[in-house]
Amino acid sequence: MTTPAPPLSTGFPHDHDLTDILQGRRMRRNRQTDWSRSLVRESTLTVGDLIWPIFLVEGTAIRQPVESLPDVSRMSVDEAVTATREASDLGIPAVALFPYTDPALRDESASEALNPQNLVCRACRAIKTSGSDIGVITDVALDPYTSHGQDGLMVGNEIVNDPSVAHMAVQSIIQAEAGADVIAPSDMMDGRVGAIRRALDGAGFSNTQIMAYSAKFASSFYGPFRDAVGSSATLKGDKRTYQLDPANGDEALREVALDVSEGADMVMVKPGLPYLDILYRTKQAFQLPTFAYQVSGEYAMIRAAAANGWIDEESAMMESLLAFKRAGADGVLSYFAPMAAQILNR
Ligand code: PBG
Repeated sequence: MTTPAPPLSTGFPHDHDLTDILQGRRMRRNRQTDWSRSLVRESTLTVGDLIWPIFLVEGTAIRQPVESLPDVSRMSVDEAVTATREASDLGIPAVALFPYTDPALRDESASEALNPQNLVCRACRAIKTSGSDIGVITDVALDPYTSHGQDGLMVGNEIVNDPSVAHMAVQSIIQAEAGADVIAPSDMMDGRVGAIRRALDGAGFSNTQIMAYSAKFASSFYGPFRDAVGSSATLKGDKRTYQLDPANGDEALREVALDVSEGADMVMVKPGLPYLDILYRTKQAFQLPTFAYQVSGEYAMIRAAAANGWIDEESAMMESLLAFKRAGADGVLSYFAPMAAQILNR
C-alpha cells in the first residue's frame, strides 16, 4: 500500500489566508455582479462610434459577394443607397465608399479618378440626395483606378510623389462637388493633406472635412480589401516606398504631426489591433479626433476563426471594437459596423 502524498503547501504563514498580503485590497470585489461591472466600466462602444466601409460596383440591383470578406458585398449604386439608409436607421453616422472600377477603365494615368461621373461620384450624389443624412466619406488614392494597382502614378519603377498629389487634389474636388462630406486620403504621398486642403478651399469647399490616413502601415492585412476593389489582380510589387514600415512608431507620429500641420481635421491609424500602441500614442500626443481602421484582414480573421467554431464571433467582434475605444479612438471604421450596431441597439 502506498501512502497518500502530503497536501501541497504554498509556504504562506497561513495557507489559504491572504489577509496579510492583500490588506483588504480585493480587485474582484467590483467584478462580482453585472450591475457593478457596468458601474465601473471605463470605456464604451456606441453605434455613434462606427463608420461602415462599403464597396461599389457598376450596374443595378447587384450585390456581389467578396469571397475573402464573408457577408461583405460589392453593391451597385441603388443597393448602396438602400444599404446606407439601413445603416442610418441603425444609427451609424457615416459610410466610407470604395469602388471596384471596371478593369477596362483602369489605366496608367488613373484618368477615371478624375471623371465626375465615376462610380464613387455617382454613389455619393445618389446617397446625398436620397434623404438620408448619413455622412459620406470618400477615399482619395489612385489604386482602384491605375492599371498597376499602386496608390500613386508611376514613372518607370518609381511611384512619383508630386504628380500623384496634384492628381489627387483634383480627385478631391470632384468628390466634394459630388457631395462628399469628408475627403479621406489613404495614399501616404507626402504633402497631400496640405495640397488637398488648398485645392478644396480654392474651389469653394472650405467646409469639406479631411480625415487623413496619417499613420498607414505597409500591412499584410489589406489582402481581402484588394480583392474587393480588384487591385489584388492589378498590383505589381508592394507599397513599401510610401506606406509606413510596421517597425516604426516614432515615424508614425511624425506623419500624424505633418498631416495635422497641413490641415487634417481628423486623423487615422491603420490597420487596427496590431497598431493599438500607435493609436494610443497618437491620441495622447495630439488630442485630435482620432480613428482606427479595423481592416479587411482583421475582419476576415475573426470571421474565419468563428466559422471554424474556434472563437465566439459576437463577443470577439465586440471585444475587438471596444479595444479601440479603450486605446483612445473616437471612432472605428469596420466591416462589422452593421452587425455591431444591431447588437448595440438590442
Ligand atoms: C488603398 C487602401 C487600402 C485600404 C484602404 N485604402 C489598401 C492598400 O493600401 O493597399 C485597406 C482597407 C482594408 O484592408 O480594409 N488606398
